Parts: sequence; C-alpha cells; structure tokens
Amino acid sequence: MPELSERAKNYTASPVRKIAGMLEKSGFDKSIISFGGGSPSVPPPREVLEYACQKLAENPHLATTYGSTEGLPTVRELIAEDLRSTENLKVEADDIIITAGSTEGLFSAVFALVNPGDEVIFPDPGYFYGETIKLAGAKPARVPVNWKEDFQILPQRLESAITKKTKAVILTSPDNPTGAVQSKENVHAAIDICEDRDIWLITDEAYKDFVYREEYESPRHMSGSPNIVSCCSYSKSISIPGLRIGYAYGDREVINKLNQVKQSTTLIAPRFAQFFVEKFLADHGKVKKKFVAEAREFYKSKMEVMSSALNESGFEFSKPRGGFFFFLDLHDRLKTLRMDDETFCYRLMEKEKLALVPGRFYGKNGEQHVRLTFVSETPERIREGVKRLSSFINKHE
Ligand SMILES: Cc1ncc(COP(=O)(O)O)c(C=O)c1O
Repeated sequence: MPELSERAKNYTASPVRKIAGMLEKSGFDKSIISFGGGSPSVPPPREVLEYACQKLAENPHLATTYGSTEGLPTVRELIAEDLRSTENLKVEADDIIITAGSTEGLFSAVFALVNPGDEVIFPDPGYFYGETIKLAGAKPARVPVNWKEDFQILPQRLESAITKKTKAVILTSPDNPTGAVQSKENVHAAIDICEDRDIWLITDEAYKDFVYREEYESPRHMSGSPNIVSCCSYSKSISIPGLRIGYAYGDREVINKLNQVKQSTTLIAPRFAQFFVEKFLADHGKVKKKFVAEAREFYKSKMEVMSSALNESGFEFSKPRGGFFFFLDLHDRLKTLRMDDETFCYRLMEKEKLALVPGRFYGKNGEQHVRLTFVSETPERIREGVKRLSSFINKHE
C-alpha cells in the first residue's frame, strides 16, 4: 500500500469523537452519566420540523436538489434581516454564505485567508482549530489563558503571541472548552491589534445564542473592519447539529472567496437543513425568539446546578458565562492521584461510569484539566455525576 499523506499522518483525532464512540459502543448505557459530548439536549422546534418535512413531502426533488453554493437567496435574506434586527449590523444577503455548520465556515476561512507557513493564533486551552490550520499548511500558535483570569485573552498576551508570520487570530466567544465570554474590552483590543498589524480576525460564534450573564455583542457590531470574518452555527441554536448548517459573513469580496473554497468541500450546505433556518427566522424571527430564550434558560439552570454541585464538592473554577462547558483545573488532585488527565478520564468512565473529556486535547495548558458539559443530563444526574467525580478522587487520594 502506498504511504498516507503527511497531513493525514499528523492529524489528531478529537477526543470528543472518541468519547462519543465509547458511548455509542455501550449502546448509550443509561448507567453512564455523560458530561462528555456537548450536543444540544432540547428537541428542535416542532413548527420548524413540520415545515421542513412538509417541504420534503410536497416536492422531494426540489427539497433535495443542488442549489447555489452560497445558499438559498430567501434564507440568506432572512439571516441578514435577523443580524440587522437582533445584532444591529449592517449586513446584506450578499455578505453571507450558508455553510455546512460553522466547521465549514471556519475551514473555508482558514483556507481562503492563510498561506502555507503562516501562523494562526488561538487560545490555549482552546477549540480544535489546530488540525484545520495544519491541513492548510500553516502553523497553530497559541495564546495562553487560565481559569484564574476567567480564560480571558489579555491584550498584552495576544500582542506577544504575534510574530511576522501571524496571518490570523481566531476568537471564540462564548468558548469551548472553557465557557468564557471575552470581555468587550478584550474583543475591542483584539480587533484593534488585528487592524494595526493587518491580520485577519476569524470569529467563532457557534454559541452566541447561549450567553448567560450579559447581553451578547458581536465583534462585527464593535467594528466594521473588513478584517473580521464571522463564523456562526445553527447546530446549537436550532438543536440540529446532525443537519450541518451554519453561515459565515463579512466583507463581500472576502466572503466570495470563502464561497469558492466551499466548492471543494460540500459544494452546497444541505438544502433540507436550509428549510429549518427558513422557518426558524420567518415572521421576523418569531420561532427563534421564543425557542432560543427558552433553551438559554434551560441550559442556564443546568449550569447553575452543576456550579452548585461542584462548589459543594470543594472544586474551584471559573463559572461559565456562556456556551455548554466547565473547564476544571485538577492539577493538585491529579498530582496526588499520580494520574494524567487522560488516564483519569478513562478510569472514571470504567470505574464510575462517568464520561468527561481530558483537557490535554485542548492544548498544553489544558493538561491536568477536564471538560464537563452540563447540557446533556438532568439536574439529578448532574448532582450524581459530580458526586461520582468527587468520590473517585477521594477514594484514590
Ligand atoms: C467552539 C466551536 N466551534 C465550532 C463548532 C462546530 O459547530 P458546527 O456544528 O456548527 O460545525 C463547535 C461544536 O461543538 C464548537 O464547540
């Protein structure tokens, strides 16, 4: 057999996929409490489901055929209207492309904006952008964040991560794995730094509908800089991660280039999924307003349950301001247990039937941390899961 490409050989599989595989293999054994994956746990809105199914039944050919790479004009118009009315942005349909999840928006952005040999900065710990950056022949560069500073990207640290080779910064707010929402000052600073140094700012806004303690303000609202490319998702907002739908927007010329890259990935975002967005945003976002407000409250209440349970068990942490996750620093405890975070998570799964994600997969600074999601389980099972976590530690200390 000929050799695999260096690209493929160097690709690191996501641990979340590994945990998802373990859960699937167990037949979704109910005795396992999952703080692992972060799939939304509320069903998609009924009227949206019915609308899309009706479209499919009415005209199966039209509902499943190809379409333009940038997405259905009606849906792009609705997204533009939504951004104008809810985020007060100056955006037209032609500034937007519909993507197969924000993953495709991010992939297209990196491939359209970054050259081989360039550096792309994102936080450590931070989401799995490294693999996409490496596929593009560029180099992941990291800016350190930590829980004692609420995982904020401090401007002076961002400045010092920049080199002559820096081509882009990726800003994720709300964040996965940390639950951080970057402060307005820090987002402003990141925008200014990128403008001054002529660097792209790619924003990952996958969780923008799930901010718990403040009003969300998009980077694009803070600045009209053409350097900003925003990548958004409907996976969490409509609760349809498996349908693969999201969008990217920014300067029209730049977005046209992202759209060309898209011809080499999905060609078009799933047409059927675009009907979900169509209904979700119809009538000035009637369904969206109600659904997102309820889902946000639902997740927030679970976040509070997990926060209290962790507090009562003596853990110290940065309480999430948004998104789906807690990121716990277990340095001291794991030192006593003489385990690394990965061994700890696999043992916890085996012995206590509790699924967590090892922090090391989010970067060097994620070592000896674990990521916990609060979205999947009921309040009772969240309390029980935290009990299992703390009793496993106490038993072995
Ligand atoms: C920070 C972040 N960005 C992007 C994604 C990918 O989202 P999508 O389903 O829209 O591709 C995720 C998924 O969990 C995420 O956590």
